[in-house]
Amino acid sequence: MAVKIKRVGVIGAGHMGSGIAHVCGLAGYGVVINDLSADRLKAALATINGNMARQVKRQRITEEQRKNALKRIVPAESMDVFASCDLVIEAATEKEEVKRKVYSELCPMLRSDAIIGSNSSSISITRLAAATDRPEHFIGIHFMNPPAVMELVELIRGIATDDETFETTREFCVNLGKTVAVSEDFPAFIVNRILMPMINEAIYTLYEGVGTVEAIDTAMRLGAHHPMGPLQLADFVGLDTCLSVMQMLYEGLADSKYRPCPLLVKYVEAGWLGRKTQRGFYDYRQEKPVPTR
Ligand code: 3HC
Repeated sequence: MAVKIKRVGVIGAGHMGSGIAHVCGLAGYGVVINDLSADRLKAALATINGNMARQVKRQRITEEQRKNALKRIVPAESMDVFASCDLVIEAATEKEEVKRKVYSELCPMLRSDAIIGSNSSSISITRLAAATDRPEHFIGIHFMNPPAVMELVELIRGIATDDETFETTREFCVNLGKTVAVSEDFPAFIVNRILMPMINEAIYTLYEGVGTVEAIDTAMRLGAHHPMGPLQLADFVGLDTCLSVMQMLYEGLADSKYRPCPLLVKYVEAGWLGRKTQRGFYDYRQEKPVPTR
């Protein structure tokens, strides 16, 4: 008998975790959001509140919906609260050893029929599932950034994911108001397999001096009608994330066409990770972002 999803757990109160909690709360699900840091949880709830207030201002949701959704989202510093969850979405750091550690703490807390979804953007779902006690109830559920705005969720079945888990999760995504694209479990799935090499190519274009930061972003915004230029988008997503996806593609597909641009590596080594550290291809420490090259 398939589990009916009523209560959702979210692990990780970063940008993606808080966005996922936001979407689930608005769709009427009870949500528990977990992080090791109380400060991060506090910041996440403030971000969710602020983003919902913006949606009210733009008349996308009502004040009543905002209030009710906020009431449904409960912070938790420990994982025992997940015992009451039907689905737990892991949105921890994109590092396999971190995710494995999370699962080892999470699994003993869960009911045997609960589903674990990973928001991993590039790591093999089959491999992650194998690190849990329930590979058949494990699935990739990849939200796009920002989760509250982007219409898509990628669903990725691991080799062992059963049909009930897949159908239940698909129905859940539809209830969130998202459109699902199903991807096979190969490195970086569909969106990042296509998007990240484009971003990496934009960085090569900068590295080789074909264009400036502004020229490259203007070219793609106005010339290809992308909502953000590729370097702006790289800063938005996080340069560490871009690099880790490129490394996953390079190693996983063993093809030199995916080699990360040395300039991307250099920015990450400098700790210039984009918006989250205030510096990336743009410097965000003043009101108007200024290119850093
Ligand atoms: N939460 C809630 N609402 C938000 C929001 C947030 N965090 N950020 C923006 N919004 C809403 C605004 O309220 C506004 O709503 P409206 O259309 O109803 O008025 C709408 O989004 C547009 O916002 P703004 O007018 O402030 O800003 P922009 O028009 O510049 O849009 C953007 C912002 C939606 C982020 C747009 O620039 C965009 O679509 N950028 C590309 C994003 C993208 O490609 N994401 C995918 C990245 S890849 C990925 O996520 C995979 C991962 O694994 C790396």
